[in-house]
Amino acid sequence: MERFELKTAVAFGENALAALEALPGRRVMVVTDGFLAGSGLLDKVLTRLEGRQVEVFDQGVPVPPLDLVARGARALADFRPEAVVAFGGGSALDCAKAMAQFGKKLGAPEDLSLCAVPTTAGTGSEVTSFAVLTDPAKGVKYPLVDDGLLPRLAVLEPAFLEGVPPAVTADTGMDVLAHAAEAYVAKGASPYSDALAEKAFTLAWGSLPAAFAAKGASPAKGDMLLASNLAGLAFNAAGLGLCHGLAHALGGRFHVPHGRLNALLLPAVISFNAADERSGKKYGRLAGLCALTPTARSLSFALERLRGRLEQPRRLSGCGVEPAALRSALDAVAADALADFCTASNPRPAGPEDVKALLRELA
Ligand SMILES: [Fe+2]
Repeated sequence: MERFELKTAVAFGENALAALEALPGRRVMVVTDGFLAGSGLLDKVLTRLEGRQVEVFDQGVPVPPLDLVARGARALADFRPEAVVAFGGGSALDCAKAMAQFGKKLGAPEDLSLCAVPTTAGTGSEVTSFAVLTDPAKGVKYPLVDDGLLPRLAVLEPAFLEGVPPAVTADTGMDVLAHAAEAYVAKGASPYSDALAEKAFTLAWGSLPAAFAAKGASPAKGDMLLASNLAGLAFNAAGLGLCHGLAHALGGRFHVPHGRLNALLLPAVISFNAADERSGKKYGRLAGLCALTPTARSLSFALERLRGRLEQPRRLSGCGVEPAALRSALDAVAADALADFCTASNPRPAGPEDVKALLRELA
């Protein structure tokens, strides 16, 4: 028997933010980062919470470290809110999700209502049971996976994406394509996750170049926010793969943006996985849906071309990972990638030598 469940309600489209007015309770904690707190964007959220007692925790940072989450969980348990609004990029959302989870263990209400409002189109964290944290002392990223991390409500407000810089649009957008492509062939894929992954991939494929080129508001940015959400739903059900296992292992050590690593790794991982017959066929189908020659090879090449169009590096050295540093970390990166939770869903088994060969090609 297989199961497919959707637990998060999604408010989307123009003026989606109005959904915050229906949040339960009088006490609300907003978790965000310093940049958003200092911009006018946080005020748009606070306006929707008028009349309630609101506390803002604005210490979210990229890939939240464990000690920050512990501090946040304590603040949340002390304030005892009935609802938490996670507001920001994937890292702020992950921080809030982990804070809420640990905060409940420290005395925050068990029925705490978690609402996520993304300001980038990338992680899909607003609908997933994943949160990626980091241990800076060990240089390791930890994907935390628990259904308790699932937000009850996701609010997709396109207006928040208007000022996102092109480089961030490119990095996060390539993450969306990686989520959809990995979920599509992952071991846990089903007809339900396939439908979500196909729509996510084709929508992002058609929208990302225009979203990257757009200054200010753009329908393409709204489409990328939808694609990110659909891809999040897909991989939350199906799992991810080796591309994300490698991105976590490299990102923890070399501090390269997650989406930029995925952009670099995805074409190579598609070529590796295409040797698996089922995956090869599915990649071909995905390519066909994007009006490309329906083969895995053409999908991989097309992603490389898109990466170039988005002005992203084609080698790890272009991301600041020196070849000598990669060589000395190669064994450890391969071991971490193979031990990563995401790699377990990869459709083709990979060993240390496969992973090291793939990394050497991208050095
Ligand atoms: Fe990702």
